[in-house]
Amino acid sequence: MDLFEYQARDLFEQYGVPVLAGIVADTPEQARAAAERLGGVTVVKAQVKVGGRGKAGGVKVAKTPDDAEAAARAILGMDIKGHTVNRVMVAAGADIKEEYYFSVLLDRANRSYLSLSSFEGGMEIEELAVTRPEALARIEVDPGEGVTLEKAAAIARAAKFPAELVDTVAPVFVKLYEVYTGEDATLVEVNPLVLTGGGDIVALDGKVSLDDNADFRHPRHAELEDKASADPLEAKAKASHLNYVKLDGEVGVIGNGAGLVMSTLDVVAYAGERHGGVKPANFLDIGGGASASVMAAGLDVILGDPQVKSVFVNVFGGITACDAVANGIVQALGMLGDTATKPLVVRLDGNNVEEGRRILQEAAHPLVTLALTMDDGADKAAELAAAN
Ligand SMILES: Nc1ncnc2c1ncn2[C@@H]1O[C@H](COP(=O)(O)OP(=O)(O)OP(=O)(O)O)[C@@H](O)[C@H]1O
Ligand SMILES: [Mg+2]
Repeated sequence: MDLFEYQARDLFEQYGVPVLAGIVADTPEQARAAAERLGGVTVVKAQVKVGGRGKAGGVKVAKTPDDAEAAARAILGMDIKGHTVNRVMVAAGADIKEEYYFSVLLDRANRSYLSLSSFEGGMEIEELAVTRPEALARIEVDPGEGVTLEKAAAIARAAKFPAELVDTVAPVFVKLYEVYTGEDATLVEVNPLVLTGGGDIVALDGKVSLDDNADFRHPRHAELEDKASADPLEAKAKASHLNYVKLDGEVGVIGNGAGLVMSTLDVVAYAGERHGGVKPANFLDIGGGASASVMAAGLDVILGDPQVKSVFVNVFGGITACDAVANGIVQALGMLGDTATKPLVVRLDGNNVEEGRRILQEAAHPLVTLALTMDDGADKAAELAAAN
């Protein structure tokens, strides 16, 4: 999960990273009140989870509360790279002398952590990495050792900070690394980290990505979730602990095992080409122990997708045998009753397949068609989606 800048700012503050005061506002009037509370020059900043806000006009300096209100009026509702701005942060204005760059991230390729830093920040770091790679220090951080004060000083020197600044920035790098490990982040980035006229180091912008796999260790992370802009179907699936990803097509897909579901998506997409270009509508892996209630929850999510015209259930019976899955489908359709309105193509194979097919045939549900192979099932489901 990526955080908004104001959420990153709050985390930084909790860990003792130097930041400026910031107040979020959802309306121009709130922005004015925030600027009045902060006093002096403020900066009104679009809160969207995408980079390049400044260039897009989403960061504006305001000399007075009037200015802040006007800036918020201009920024709220703005579209930045496909993200609508629903909230701004009114931040205290900094007296910037110099801008630097610092980040620490998970380096999957090298199974390690990596710190990127530069004495030249503020600009787009991707651009700096291409045009002047020598200005961007890439220093591996051993997860076992972490960023000690010595390591931080080494990073600062590699990033070409002058000697007199090394001892000033190093403790801030250490604190940012504490945010990274303490919160189980996969990225902590500050661009720009600034030196003020008064000689202080301040994180003026923050980008933090948290590792969802570590959520169980961080009950507080649930509050950081942006429920307002989450896809409602994905949110519903998440509430039922389903592994669901919304896609853009018409054929709903349910399978057991991520590999089987991935190949089902391919087969459906391929079959769809013969039927007017219909495509898979989602990824949904109901996992190994596919009980009736899990099947019902999965079908409920998929049938709730207005784009879905047909559903392909592709299950390979293993520990949960085909007869249990078949019973699950029959019970799930019973539980859903009238809300189940779209045709279902079911392909079962594996453990107890004969019994599973018999159960479905006997139930003779009007919406269910049995398919013998994965290709036939995909073809039938695509055909039904194209016809509906
Ligand atoms: N509180 C502040 N006081 C003074 N200047 C600021 C403040 N916040 C940002 N700025 C200036 O605006 C520039 C852009 O701000 P910021 O880095 O937050 O946005 P951005 O880089 O455009 O967004 P992103 O990091 O999402 O690409 C900064 O480099 C800095 O010069
Ligand atoms: Mg920035």
